[in-house]
Amino acid sequence: MNTPVTFERRGRIGLLRINNPPVNALSLATVTGLIEAFDAFEADASLGALLVHCDGRTFVAGGDISSFDAHDFSAAPYNTLLARLEASARPVVAALHGTALGGGLELALACHYRVAVPGTRVGVPEVKLGLLPGSLGTQRLPRLAGVALALDMMQSGRMLDARQALEAGIVDTVREGDALSVGLAYAESLVGDEVGPRRASLMQASMAGLAPGFFDKAMLDARKKPGYPALEAIVRCVQAAVRLPFAQGEQVEAEEFEHLRQSTTSRGLRHLFFAERQAAKIPGLAQDVALRTVASVGVVGAGTMGGGIAMSFANAGIPVTLVEASEEALKRGLALVRKHYEASAAKGKLKPEQLAQRMALLSGSLDYAALAGCDLVIEAVFEDMDLKAQVCARLGAVCKPGAIIATNTSTLDVNALAAATGRPADVVGLHFFSPAHVMRLLEVVRGEKTAPEVLATVMKLAGRLKKVAVVSGVCYGFIGNRMAEAYLREAEFLLLEGAEPQQIDSAAEALGMAMGPCRMLDMAGIDVGAKTVIERAKAGGLPADPSYRVLVRRLFELGRLGQKSGAGYYRYDGRKPLPDPELRNICEALAAEHGIARRSDINDGEIVERLMYPLVNEGARILEEGIAYRPGDVDMVWVAGYGFPDFRGGPLFMADQIGLETIVERMADYGIGRGNAFGYWTPSELLVRLAAEGKHFSTWRPH
Ligand code: COA
Repeated sequence: MNTPVTFERRGRIGLLRINNPPVNALSLATVTGLIEAFDAFEADASLGALLVHCDGRTFVAGGDISSFDAHDFSAAPYNTLLARLEASARPVVAALHGTALGGGLELALACHYRVAVPGTRVGVPEVKLGLLPGSLGTQRLPRLAGVALALDMMQSGRMLDARQALEAGIVDTVREGDALSVGLAYAESLVGDEVGPRRASLMQASMAGLAPGFFDKAMLDARKKPGYPALEAIVRCVQAAVRLPFAQGEQVEAEEFEHLRQSTTSRGLRHLFFAERQAAKIPGLAQDVALRTVASVGVVGAGTMGGGIAMSFANAGIPVTLVEASEEALKRGLALVRKHYEASAAKGKLKPEQLAQRMALLSGSLDYAALAGCDLVIEAVFEDMDLKAQVCARLGAVCKPGAIIATNTSTLDVNALAAATGRPADVVGLHFFSPAHVMRLLEVVRGEKTAPEVLATVMKLAGRLKKVAVVSGVCYGFIGNRMAEAYLREAEFLLLEGAEPQQIDSAAEALGMAMGPCRMLDMAGIDVGAKTVIERAKAGGLPADPSYRVLVRRLFELGRLGQKSGAGYYRYDGRKPLPDPELRNICEALAAEHGIARRSDINDGEIVERLMYPLVNEGARILEEGIAYRPGDVDMVWVAGYGFPDFRGGPLFMADQIGLETIVERMADYGIGRGNAFGYWTPSELLVRLAAEGKHFSTWRPH
């Protein structure tokens, strides 16, 4: 096995070299290696300075996130080493390249001097994992970069580029060249000029330019996001950096870090970090499968969805041909895209020349022949099986051999659409979420006959689009909408039984959902929601329950299309949802029609359980049937596509925390209380088995 750290002599410079691919994360072996290497440096009095350098693509990108789960995890050995580095009587230099993040930046901050090559980025992204920098970053960074910037970097997790790091005093110089040569030259110059150590821990953290009450305000802001306790903890640590001696600040940081490390929030966010990367991996697919080239894309349909998809590709620099049925629709679609870009430009998010570049990548046509040269064509026409099948058949005929044909259906049978093209191996589902240029999730639907290289190509492509791709098998609604169906069904039943939309939404939002189900449906359009139910009924896929999703269908019949028509579950004053007594009348009438008893005792606890447990149960079925490869994929879908709170780690991770046994018991109770004629409260076999064995989703693997 390669040793992750080596020590060698380069003239008067001791060279400590880290080599732990892929990102030089601080594993236990790396820390041990660092300690031994530093011992070797200390033992050699002939050396004038020490250089810390990393091989490979980056300086240390942080602590090894997987090690944080260990019961006996301790940052102490590493922190002690950093203290020894800083205390060295001979200068210690860090040579930075790539991304010096978290524990990596903390290593650099403990060194006396930092030199970076252009292109280097530095940051403390621990907050994204529900943590804070636990190796004295909270104490050294404010001393070097000032309180305001340090707090901002730690609370946002954002990175600074080399120039910004230089201006902030985080690095001392930025020099062209490779990090090793640049670092050695810098260390040599220190020895030549007899420059001694400079220790951040002895500096005073600057409050210069900060308003009185700065920390009070920072604390108030942090408390506005109670799901993220790291934000407050970071404020307390930075306060300690200002007010307390370094050693006491160290203690504050250590206690706060340990508390956060063990929190459900951080465990959930760590789970998602790996789930996101795992989702990109397709079991059973050969590593060396030859990918198809995607250099040009076609999109059929220039509506909201098609336009958003086109923008996703243009944003990635890929030219797009949009095809519409009429001149008017095409013009409208392109104008909408321009409007979005102009809005971004007005907010300063896009430079005028970028706007022009992106628009130049888009062309429109009324003729399918314009798609003949495209490497990938995505149909994004209305969610109607007959229409989509017709479009797919035309694409099958017009697309060049080797082109990938994708459907953006959110619920329909991808195998049937694939068959309609006459070349099903080329077909895959690419389910974008609205607005497609904003939402991170891309559900990739593998058809029965999708060629492996087609699947691998679109997974890789998702990275270029900066999307999180999750593979789903074919079933009604795939992973996300199939689970959403259970969630929305219960939301409707709660309304019919007497809950109010605002009560349901606020209970869901208190759990952390970005938006409650009623507001979500109003925003997406009741017509969109109702038509998926109607299409499903046409395909014979609805449960036999006559009261199934009757509310959304009734609202649609009444022309209450949601926010866009001024009324849906709510009535609207502009975009502001207001309670609507008429909705209650509609619910009362439907309840009477379907023999559903109205109650006045529905509380928030019941709402959350009834929304979440059927959702979890459907997720379990999806695993059982092999629709999703792994529980983390289900969690990623809901976090990246449905506004599920990341600090809960996704629905299945949350279920593990609640306890699967509890969920099974509560489902049985609801089945008794509400009746279980249609099996809504029957737990899946997997859920029952895991609960009985005292197991969790997180440790479940398919056989
Ligand atoms: N600990 C453990 N593994 C890590 C890691 C870390 N800190 N950072 C990255 N990795 C792993 C990833 O899991 C991935 O493994 P895989 O190939 O088996 O899936 C691999 O390194 C490459 O990471 P990836 O994110 O796919 O590469 P990238 O080039 O897109 O991004 C980074 C590189 C460093 C910017 C990104 O990985 C990152 O932000 N890492 C986390 C940094 C962090 O939070 N540090 C503080 C930790 S306390």
